[in-house]
Amino acid sequence: MIIRNISLENFRNYGRLDLDVGPSVNIVCGNNAQGKTNLVEAISVCSCITSHRTSKDRDLIKSGESGYKICLEFDGSGYYGSVASLENQYLTERSPLNNSGKPRRQLKIDGLLTTHTNEYLGHCNTVIFAPEDLNIVKGAPQHRRKFLNMLISKVSPSYYDLIARMNRCIIQKTALIKSYRGNDAYIRNDDFDFWDITMADLSSEIIIKRMRFVNMISKKASEHHSVISDGREVLSVSYVGMPFYREIEDHLKEKGLIEGFYAENMDENVYLEVKKLIDSYLRAAFRKSRKNDIEKGICTIGIHRDDIDIKLNGMVMRTYCSQGQQRSAALALKLAELEILRKHYHSSPVLLLDDVFSELDKGRRMGLLAGMDNAQIFITCTDREYIEKELDSFLLKDVEPAFFRVMNGTVERES
Ligand SMILES: Nc1ncnc2c1ncn2[C@@H]1O[C@H](COP(=O)(O)OP(=O)(O)OP(=O)(O)O)[C@@H](O)[C@H]1O
Ligand SMILES: [Mg+2]
Repeated sequence: MIIRNISLENFRNYGRLDLDVGPSVNIVCGNNAQGKTNLVEAISVCSCITSHRTSKDRDLIKSGESGYKICLEFDGSGYYGSVASLENQYLTERSPLNNSGKPRRQLKIDGLLTTHTNEYLGHCNTVIFAPEDLNIVKGAPQHRRKFLNMLISKVSPSYYDLIARMNRCIIQKTALIKSYRGNDAYIRNDDFDFWDITMADLSSEIIIKRMRFVNMISKKASEHHSVISDGREVLSVSYVGMPFYREIEDHLKEKGLIEGFYAENMDENVYLEVKKLIDSYLRAAFRKSRKNDIEKGICTIGIHRDDIDIKLNGMVMRTYCSQGQQRSAALALKLAELEILRKHYHSSPVLLLDDVFSELDKGRRMGLLAGMDNAQIFITCTDREYIEKELDSFLLKDVEPAFFRVMNGTVERES
């Protein structure tokens, strides 16, 4: 996957930008607060719709403007073959281009509007390594859910829709719950049953995907972490949420289905059996929580509260480990993401390294760049001389890096 051109309109501190980039290593230099991170963020937001820094699209719009647009032109090698451009435009209700009265996103593939996010994701994959990755290990559960949701969506784009549909259900069920104003004396069970059945159906699919991906992440991240820590520490990642998750694993083990469940291509019969089982657990759990939901005024249980447990030598990393250990674990998790994507698409995603390169020691850089021989990489830095010296030590092949200077929302290519 090679990006050839990036164009921006009103994205963060960029007014307009039309930039041809190099096919291998692109070094983006500049002083602080000039727009280096904004540039790699734009690439990432065009590729996977969501920003690693914010969940609010409005933050991404240049202040005073009413919408942003990002377009990437790239060589459509890889899984989908011929696609050559992606465009992600977001317009607020104030935009003269938007008369719908509410914020609107327009996604285009090769210039043609698509209404299905499923079709958009996966064409131009990127993996961003940024200081915010630390939140995956250290932050609130929503950061880990976001990491997991985005990775699954990149590999299996229909998952993005599942999550969107699930979020809409949660909003509607919450409205129903709130209509009782804490009074559970006359519950209309039919209304709740409808949402419980719909949510159990969607959630069971989501849970199966999450269980399988966390298993994959755990294996790959622990391998990377073992290399990073010279085999001294053991990293483990597990999926946690509703209490019955463990029972499902136990059930699969008992029936000898566990390997089939986690196999690359899961057997259809195993899938159907597990889905049915989860579905029934969920319906029972939703029903049981009805009174509590009304009392609290929210959906108290569900996949929107799931988390992943990240442990080092059996200890919860979030509370017990040092900053250095947390950083290593975050790197191992992102390396697992990179590997999963590379394996699935049989080609390397574009690597975006924001502020992380100079922080890594030589061993970790090698770990990061192993197998990235033909990949396109963007590296941000403040000190060109330093990075030039460092590049010699890690570039294994005869690559010509391209240098760019970022200054107050403009980018110039340097020789
Ligand atoms: N929505 C926005 N509208 C206008 N300016 C913005 C917006 N969002 C961020 N900025 C500004 O963009 C500037 C550049 O931010 P960016 O994070 O890209 O800096 P950077 O070059 O990566 O700096 P550093 O080296 O400190 O990481 C900042 O001054 C920030 O205030
Ligand atoms: Mg930055």
